[in-house]
Amino acid sequence: MCRRVELPGHRRLTVRFMRPSDAPGMVALFAGLGDEDVYTRFFSHHPPPEHFVEQMARTQERGGFGLVAVVEVPGAEPQLVGEASCEPLPDGNGELGITVARRARGWLGPFLLDALVEEAAARGVPGIEADVLVTNRRMLSLLRHRGLAVLGHSGAPGIVRVVIGTSGRVPRWPGPHDRPRLLVEIPGGRWHAHEEATAAGFQVLACPGPLGRWSGCPALHGEPCPLVTGADVVVDALPDDPERSLRAAHRHLHPTVPVCVQLPAGREEDTPEPQIRAGQDDAAVIGLLQRLVTMPPGGPPPDPGSARHRSTGR
Ligand SMILES: CC(C)(COP(=O)(O)OP(=O)(O)OC[C@H]1O[C@@H](n2cnc3c(N)ncnc32)[C@H](O)[C@@H]1OP(=O)(O)O)[C@@H](O)C(=O)NCCC(=O)NCCS
Repeated sequence: MCRRVELPGHRRLTVRFMRPSDAPGMVALFAGLGDEDVYTRFFSHHPPPEHFVEQMARTQERGGFGLVAVVEVPGAEPQLVGEASCEPLPDGNGELGITVARRARGWLGPFLLDALVEEAAARGVPGIEADVLVTNRRMLSLLRHRGLAVLGHSGAPGIVRVVIGTSGRVPRWPGPHDRPRLLVEIPGGRWHAHEEATAAGFQVLACPGPLGRWSGCPALHGEPCPLVTGADVVVDALPDDPERSLRAAHRHLHPTVPVCVQLPAGREEDTPEPQIRAGQDDAAVIGLLQRLVTMPPGGPPPDPGSARHRSTGR
């Protein structure tokens, strides 16, 4: 991995693999961040101590990899202006950490992330996960353009765990398929019963859907969506899809995956799909989803023990 970009003023930016000897440059990068950036990067009010950064720079020894962006100016010391790392996770994905010096922002974040994603894909890492502060609009915007899905909000308050794929427009389901998988399509990726469904045994992923600025939704491009084909049940909670185009796409592209519709308060609609009513008790919602998982649309109730999520090949 090595990318070079010629910059104005005879400067040159190089993105290359991180090495242990990059630790001092990374310490200087973190020391130059403002308080807010330190917090968004490390969820702490202080930059990490040197020994911690030395460990960060040794990600390769833990089976991961890191990249650094270095600017070379004739007659001056090279300056490390960005770092991004991918630490191996038990579910097979990589954990992302990324920092760009303020003076290098505006394009380096996306450039570095693209390089990291490309390298991760080449190494067979299917997805990149990150804990992001819900107020970190720069980072969320960066990830949204790469088709993020929300894994949960159950960590520290104000932090969302997200995943992006390293190939294709959307991520794949992480980890083994040992629990029924519930995909919720909802703007912003925040669903009221996410934690309850997780507690009830579902693996839950929330997709912000095709609306807004991200238009990479495979289903709306006429292609099966790996998140839907890998799901055991889908909740469509996209209130501003007036054409119902996504639901129609699901019927056409994913006819065997049960879809349940959640309408906003005050809206009534006849739908062929079962509905979650506004204000409906979470336990009733979970009960409905559990029934749908074991009873695909149009099909007879399966024998006990033949739940779809136990099938292989997905
Ligand atoms: C997050 C970070 C790596 C992004 O890199 P960057 O070079 O700043 O990226 P960009 O300038 O392309 O900005 C990313 C997006 O945020 C938007 N943005 C820029 N400034 C913004 C602001 N003040 N408020 C909201 N959005 C903003 C950009 O328009 C861009 O959106 P777009 O992709 O829709 O055009 C960088 O800002 C950073 O190092 N932040 C501090 C550390 C951090 O938060 N790391 C992530 C921890 S998970």
